[in-house]
Amino acid sequence: MKNLNIGIISLGWMGGLHARSYLSAPRRYPELNVEPVLHTAADPDATARDLAVNTLGFARAVADYRELLSDPEIDAVSICSPNFLHREIALAAVEAGKPFWIEKPMGRSAQESREIAEAAERAGLVTAVGFNYRNVPAIAEARRLVRSGGIGEVTNVRVSFLADYSSDPASTLTWRFKRELAGTGVLGDLLSHGFDLAQFIVGRIDSVTAADSLVIRQRPLPTAGATSHLSASAGGGPVGPVENEDYAAVIARFDSGAIGVFESSRIAVGPRAEYIIDVYGTKGSLRWNFHRLNELQIADSRDGYRTVMAGPGFGDFARFQPGPGLSMGFDDLKTIEAALFLRSLAEGEQFAPSAADGWAAAEIADAALESAASGAWVTVPEVSGETTYNR
Ligand SMILES: NC(=O)c1ccc[n+]([C@@H]2O[C@H](COP(=O)([O-])OP(=O)(O)OC[C@H]3O[C@@H](n4cnc5c(N)ncnc54)[C@H](O)[C@@H]3O)[C@@H](O)[C@H]2O)c1
Repeated sequence: MKNLNIGIISLGWMGGLHARSYLSAPRRYPELNVEPVLHTAADPDATARDLAVNTLGFARAVADYRELLSDPEIDAVSICSPNFLHREIALAAVEAGKPFWIEKPMGRSAQESREIAEAAERAGLVTAVGFNYRNVPAIAEARRLVRSGGIGEVTNVRVSFLADYSSDPASTLTWRFKRELAGTGVLGDLLSHGFDLAQFIVGRIDSVTAADSLVIRQRPLPTAGATSHLSASAGGGPVGPVENEDYAAVIARFDSGAIGVFESSRIAVGPRAEYIIDVYGTKGSLRWNFHRLNELQIADSRDGYRTVMAGPGFGDFARFQPGPGLSMGFDDLKTIEAALFLRSLAEGEQFAPSAADGWAAAEIADAALESAASGAWVTVPEVSGETTYNR
């Protein structure tokens, strides 16, 4: 059993989840034969550092991520920071020779994502990007069916990522709403998942045309009691401008000739986190909805959909539950992601979605943004490096 010393940078929602996932992965995937050790956490926020040491079990916590990266004892790092720090921290991780698992969207733009991916590739480092929906067992089964010709030739794809997390105009103006800090709005925050998922199931997206809109133009500035985009202000305080899109609609052409329709909102009232992907083929169709993570709707005849519960034959389901009908949850998807990254660290090969996959999704988002401004179809540039979505 080999110990791997892990550093996690930023201990918010995702940082805490990465920590728990490193710990659970070897229990679900004992053949990895590695034991991740929560060595150092880095976060300027004292409460986050306290959580890291006293709840998550890190040996120590520091305020400055540079201190973590310069520690020769650390074997690999997670980058779970707000988007505006991804490029800076990822390039510093490469400079320090640390393989990294980074959250999506990887950069604030395709250019930043490219810099990260090319630097990691040049340094020969394995990477992982937080495209966790790839790991849903029902998605693994959907992909197997599509790629084995089970629904015939794919004609069209519908991806609908509708969330309500900012539907309340009183929800706080955090970094997510600022172009300088987040980059795009839903195109990066939600549709980066959708673009990657569609490429993972169907194949490469070649070109897009898009429209977007900004609906809630001002939001209250953060206050001591309301610092997250999920918290609402009491009202009456100062407000500031929202700078990126609340809603986006994208039409895409895949290399195969299939057409995709993507839609995403962070202000939809009704769907909570309703992430749906439909794949239509000449012989059948598939539908998955995050609200029903453990189900896959399959139409493989002309008799309409039947609903199949995920079970031990689907993806990595058997690592978590012994039989169909028992449920997996969101956090389990991250355990699978951690296991892929740990396997890469142990074997020196790329298994998780790579930095090149993060760059590929970012090129689609940037092309959609360009099209939303110009109204034209925009060709999505091909990325170099090792993508995994077509493996
Ligand atoms: N894969 C997914 O499904 C998923 C879900 C949510 C968020 N994310 C992504 O994860 C990233 C983080 O999102 P979150 O929701 O965990 O954010 P969060 O707001 O919960 O946490 C951000 C953390 O970063 C820390 N931080 C701020 N400045 C820092 C600095 N200079 N150095 C180090 N840490 C610093 C904050 O103190 C905070 O603890 C984002 O890129 C987001 O898009 C991915």
